[in-house]
This record gives sequence, structure tokens and C-alpha cells, in this order.
Amino acid sequence: MSVPAPPVYVHRASAADAGRLAAIHRESIETLGAQAYAPELVAVWARPCVPRRYLDQMERGERYFLALAGATGEEVLGFSSYRLEEGRHRTAVFVAARAARRGVGSTLFRAAEAEARAAGATEVHVDASVGAVGFYRAVGFEELGRGEHRLRDGRGAMACVFMRKRL
Ligand SMILES: CC(C)(COP(=O)(O)OP(=O)(O)OC[C@H]1O[C@@H](n2cnc3c(N)ncnc32)[C@H](O)[C@@H]1OP(=O)(O)O)[C@@H](O)C(=O)NCCC(=O)NCCS
Repeated sequence: MSVPAPPVYVHRASAADAGRLAAIHRESIETLGAQAYAPELVAVWARPCVPRRYLDQMERGERYFLALAGATGEEVLGFSSYRLEEGRHRTAVFVAARAARRGVGSTLFRAAEAEARAAGATEVHVDASVGAVGFYRAVGFEELGRGEHRLRDGRGAMACVFMRKRL
């Protein structure tokens, strides 16, 4: 008999969640994200995952959604984000390896997409990590081109696929 997946709740993150965002972001990068990039690059990618980053971004208007499970929502499975940057509506989704391929990423993306629509977006963009292209395609994105995504510490760039979803 198969065990049903536990219910997953989407929680709009607040400043109190900065530590949980940092931890799940790092976990996702170091597990699923790491499958498509060299270890040195993964280390640079994960380095800025500290609570201050999410607090700063929230102050700049970025919205975060956490996927939670467990009786009291104590288990964090992933997060999505939405922001308007240089006139572009942007998103990203990160899920823990232990929760992969259970629809958590899709649920999280829908929350970010709804936020983009509410902000008046007619399209949403992502610099997709190489390993996540199949996921973004599955939720409606198309490829615009390939290039490099500049990492936050300014000391590196990672190969990515520029993708867009028309809303
Ligand atoms: C990309 C990511 C968010 C997907 O999360 P997820 O919860 O596993 O996604 P879902 O279960 O909602 O997948 C929905 C569909 O997307 C597609 N998909 C998901 N992961 C895929 C993969 N690794 N390869 C190909 N297709 C994939 C499938 O069509 C899947 O449906 P299926 O499982 O019925 O076949 C997750 O793998 C992740 O966090 N990766 C590492 C972090 C990262 O690089 N994030 C993107 C930053 S730009």
C-alpha cells in the first residue's frame, strides 16, 4: 500500500521566516541544484544564503512563499519568490531534494505567478538553472536564450537559460 503524500501548505513569508528561507535555499542548491554544476560554483551560489539577504530583499519588495508540511507546518519543503526588477517581473523556485517530484515546485510557482498577476504582470521571467529547465517548461515557460546569471557576490556567473511565461 502506498503512503499518501502529506498535505502541503503555502505560507506567505514574513521577516520572521528569513532563517527558514536561508536554510531551505541552501539545502536546495546543495542537493538538487548541485547536480548540474561544478562544486566550486555550487559553493559560490549557496554562500549568500544568509537571513539578512531575504530581509533586505523583502524590504525592496520581493515576496516569498514557503511550502510547509507537518502537523504544525514545521517542515519546510521549498520556497518561491516574486519580484519586479528593472521593469521585469521575475520568479524563482527552490525545493528540497527530499520533496522533489511531488508537485511542491508547481504549487509554489502558482503562488508566485498569482502575485505577479496581482501586480499587473503580463509575463514573468526566470534565469533558469540548467537542471530546472524541464520544470519551468512544465509550468508554462518557453526558452528565450542561453547565457549567464551573475551571482550575488559579484565573483561568479553560472550558465542559465533565460525563460519567459506569458500570463
Ligand atoms: C526545479 C525544482 C524547483 C522542481 O521542483 P519539484 O517540486 O520537483 O517540481 P514538481 O514536482 O512540481 O514538477 C512538476 C513537473 O516539472 C517537470 N520537472 C520537475 N523536475 C524536473 C527535472 N529535474 N527534470 C525534468 N523535468 C522536471 C516534470 O514535468 C514534473 O512533472 P512530473 O513529476 O509529473 O513529471 C527543483 O528541482 C529544484 O529546487 N531544483 C534545484 C534548485 C533550482 O535550480 N531552482 C531553480 C532556480 S532558477
